[in-house]
Amino acid sequence: MRKLSRMKMKVYIDGCLYDESEAKISVFDHGLLYGDGVFEGMRIYGGRLFRPELHIARLQQGAKVIQLDVPWTADEMIDVICRVACENGFTDKDAYCRVVVTRGKGNLGLDPSACPKPSLIAIVGTIKLYPEEDYQNGLAVMTTAIRRNSPESCPPQIKSLNYLNNILAKLEANRYGAKEAIFLNHLGYVAEATADNVFIVKNGRVLTPPVLAGALPGITRHSVLELAAGLEIPTEERNMLLIDLYGADECFLTGTAAKVVPVTRVDGRTIGTGRPGRITRTLVSAFTKLTQETGIPVAERNAAALSGR
Ligand SMILES: Cc1ncc(COP(=O)(O)O)c(C=O)c1O
Repeated sequence: MRKLSRMKMKVYIDGCLYDESEAKISVFDHGLLYGDGVFEGMRIYGGRLFRPELHIARLQQGAKVIQLDVPWTADEMIDVICRVACENGFTDKDAYCRVVVTRGKGNLGLDPSACPKPSLIAIVGTIKLYPEEDYQNGLAVMTTAIRRNSPESCPPQIKSLNYLNNILAKLEANRYGAKEAIFLNHLGYVAEATADNVFIVKNGRVLTPPVLAGALPGITRHSVLELAAGLEIPTEERNMLLIDLYGADECFLTGTAAKVVPVTRVDGRTIGTGRPGRITRTLVSAFTKLTQETGIPVAERNAAALSGR
């Protein structure tokens, strides 16, 4: 059988576009040596970049906390993403964008003052976390023995390049044949999944752990909370224990890569009826509609940037 060849991507690094095979950073970059940097994952739906201003604000906030000076404005970074999207032909298609800001090139010591200039990397490609049937039937997930990063260390609200905890949890899920792993925090409250926020529905209310429980302030989470409020579905950010998860009427995860995905089993227990629930399905539809009707058209934005506006 003939192998379908994937189009070669162009990747942006510090002002230049490279063929993907030529897109390289220094082995002395502290992003590589120490996980010193921040990143974002965004989506383009039908050629429109979804809520980039919120993603960039989160990236800038995280960078500020780790004292990483980001010299690019939000507009400049959005222009870069739109440029890379257009270069890779995503002017009217769905895509996934990765924006990485590293501390930049330094030396073998971990002191960041050896890194005079941060690096900006932008990749636009595609991603699919789960097969379509998981969106129809719901995921079977497990809780992991690994705790969510403690707020007494690097704050878990920062989308930093340190994802080893999340990777360990994902490996654990893989080992047990679960589709996702749910973290509890250091106090035993539900925090979130490895790259998604967690929601439950109980007695008609949509509940999600507060950011202070160790959840990343997800853009999809924020959008779903707004959509629920607009649909007059009561919402609440509140601490939850495992018993709340096991006893939920419905459960779902939200994330840029995952979108909104129902969960129907947790640690071998059936959630609700064992099928994606009514409120989950309503929110999936509302979120899909939002992604189709909003966002910055990448082609227009790129054309405006090229013409000097
Ligand atoms: C740890 C973690 N939690 C939650 C999320 C979901 O956030 P968002 O909806 O902004 O993608 C992500 C994804 O970026 C993540 O990495």
